[in-house]
Amino acid sequence: MQRVLSGVQPSGSLHLGNLVGAIENFVKLQEQYQAFYMIADWHALTSKFDKVQEIRPAIQEVTATFLAAGLDPQRATLFVQSAVKEHAELHLLFSMMTPLSWVERVPTYKEKLQNSEADLGSYGFLGYPILQAADILIYKAHKVPVGEDQLFHLELTREIARRFHFLYGRELFPEPQAVLTQAVRVPGLDGRKMSKTYDNGLYLRDTPDVILQKCTRQMLSDTARVRKNDPGNPEVCNVFTFHKLFSEAATVAMVAEECPRAGIGCFDCKKRLAEAITAKVEPLRQKIEDHLAHPAHLDDVLEDGAQRARAVASATMDEVRSAMGF
Ligand code: TRP
Ligand code: SF4
Repeated sequence: MQRVLSGVQPSGSLHLGNLVGAIENFVKLQEQYQAFYMIADWHALTSKFDKVQEIRPAIQEVTATFLAAGLDPQRATLFVQSAVKEHAELHLLFSMMTPLSWVERVPTYKEKLQNSEADLGSYGFLGYPILQAADILIYKAHKVPVGEDQLFHLELTREIARRFHFLYGRELFPEPQAVLTQAVRVPGLDGRKMSKTYDNGLYLRDTPDVILQKCTRQMLSDTARVRKNDPGNPEVCNVFTFHKLFSEAATVAMVAEECPRAGIGCFDCKKRLAEAITAKVEPLRQKIEDHLAHPAHLDDVLEDGAQRARAVASATMDEVRSAMGF
């Protein structure tokens, strides 16, 4: 059975974009692959080295969300990166053989360095993609479900694998391929990408009230439609994009027909959207809260996952050390 590996940073609350863009995909992939899903707490340190107390609650929240969304801890291995120290050793070895120019040219590097509020001027942040390569290759993963923003990190991972094979003469690692999500990218309330940084998200722990408020008060619609009897244009309206993602086909068709002839007002339209989103999020939210009320169980799931992950990671490290002559 081929292996799949992916990682999520425990750096804040998960939102609808994380669910549709990543976690739902993880759930599907656990059927056909031997799946490893990692909570990348060391990666989260790149932006949270000065707020470490936030990491543990975020780990619990990601774990609760994984379970609530349908990941089965018997099938998929769910674990925390820092519980498998072998990742650190492989990261160190890779860091010695990776030319500095390879990491300096990672497109997200300079961009994030300049645009993030967190202080990313650390040595560790430059090495972020090398640690990610270690995460992937230590499990000899074939497939890596990620968003588009991670494609370059995967390219770098393949280059590191090739360089290792070339330098040490042992073909240890399959070249991992990305699995991109089919779903349209979920926009934020303001139409930009949904992101914690922009504070434009619908979070999986938002209650129905909060979802209603965010949809009716904060979500951007067709700005050219000022009064209720102005015709609107769904094609340029962010609310309609959300309808297409979360409403039933009949509602989408109704809005497409009524909006351009001013047959439905924006408030009603947004209220219906809030209902559709709530129908998806609310059952999940309740399960997340249930899981969070039983932290010992979450710890057990992660400890069990870490044991399974360690077995694979330490076998790979034996091969790596032997190939390098240690
Ligand atoms: N860099 C990924 C992100 O920010 C998280 C991550 C860490 C990851 N290690 C990984 C993803 C390994 C895939 C494989 O989303
Ligand atoms: Fe957008 Fe709906 Fe208003 Fe049309 S009715 S402009 S689709 S919010």
